Amino acid sequence: MTAAPWDALWLNLSAATMAPGGAACGLIADAAIGIAEGRVAYVGPRADLPDTPAALARDVHDGEGGVMTPGLIDCHTHLVYGGNRAREFEMRLGGASYEAIARAGGGILATVRATRALDEDALVAATLPRLDALLREGVTTIEIKSGYGLSTHAELRQLRAARRLGALRPVDVRTTFLGAHAVPPEHDADAYVDLVVNEMLPLVAAERLAEAVDAFCETIAFTPAQTRRVFARAQALGLPVKLHAEQLSNQGGAALAAEFSALSADHLEWLDEAGAAAMARAGTVAVLLPGAFYALRETHTPPVPLLRAHGVPIALATDSNPGSSPVTSLLLMLNMGCTLFRLTPEEALAGVTRNAARALGLSDRGVLRVGMRADAVLWRIGHPAELAYNIGLCPRIATVRGDEALA
Ligand code: NIG
Ligand code: FE
Repeated sequence: MTAAPWDALWLNLSAATMAPGGAACGLIADAAIGIAEGRVAYVGPRADLPDTPAALARDVHDGEGGVMTPGLIDCHTHLVYGGNRAREFEMRLGGASYEAIARAGGGILATVRATRALDEDALVAATLPRLDALLREGVTTIEIKSGYGLSTHAELRQLRAARRLGALRPVDVRTTFLGAHAVPPEHDADAYVDLVVNEMLPLVAAERLAEAVDAFCETIAFTPAQTRRVFARAQALGLPVKLHAEQLSNQGGAALAAEFSALSADHLEWLDEAGAAAMARAGTVAVLLPGAFYALRETHTPPVPLLRAHGVPIALATDSNPGSSPVTSLLLMLNMGCTLFRLTPEEALAGVTRNAARALGLSDRGVLRVGMRADAVLWRIGHPAELAYNIGLCPRIATVRGDEALA
């Protein structure tokens, strides 16, 4: 008897493949999904399977009548940090603004103090509960930024801690260097950008500690000219860029990011038409972060109709961080993306699968298609829109990575 060609075959389910251009959510009813060597070997109607299940696969799994989607991708997080900012939450509720707290030495700098106080082991330990919460909701790829160290040693330590998380849990961790997140108290802004450009970036590149470089272009952070210096050096070192842009004001950050062919521009509450057009031309993904919008009680929504009109791909992420977005639920972001930003449930789901992959420069995931990584989630739902509709319910049955079915 010859060995079955596939490691696993899933039956008795629908597939929301998220392949664009066909049925909504790429939906296939009564589907079959075959997996071989960690890749999708078959996805299509069960009726079109070329042989009997037993002849095709070593393990045949029952999908329990649920829906299988690509594994979820959280493409913008600041997951590794020390401490929390519950006190600032109280202050904001009392009327203090996020900017005023930051200017008074709180905000990001408060978390920098708490993060610098932890060694790598303690940083990993502090982060695991947050990571586990995301994994329980079907996250299979996560981006994690530095940006709470703001010294060469502390930034590199944060990136190493993030890398270690990927070895400790069944998740692909993609790290982003965000040295230009805030100006630390021991430097002025230009001197700090010198340090980022001349010391941190070359080390990050040499030690391969990050897949991308990010910056915060804002009145309380870095100017467009300073951001440009960071981007130019990143590009010279062969690292793609992304940007926290147009979150609290319009600095022209999205157009600047597009000039550097950025993978993504993120937040974008104050994006204008010129910025959207530039992003479309450059293929830069718009990463919307409804958790930060909600937690800061913002009222100026990102211009979703403009993004649609220009054909800018839209992704959604948690922005998980201790200040503007203490969020560890990507499913909640689907709901908020719809209720706060008026995305459709299909757009929201594309935002945490297909377009989130693109925001990370990853072309091997985010869609269930033959040849793609077999990262998938089986949900106890009847239709993909239920993932965005429910608030606080996690209907995950199983996460699949390669040929492993992880409970
Ligand atoms: O994405 N906008 C800048 N950075 C984070 C917030 C970081 C913090 O407040 O600690 C964000 O919202
Ligand atoms: Fe962020």
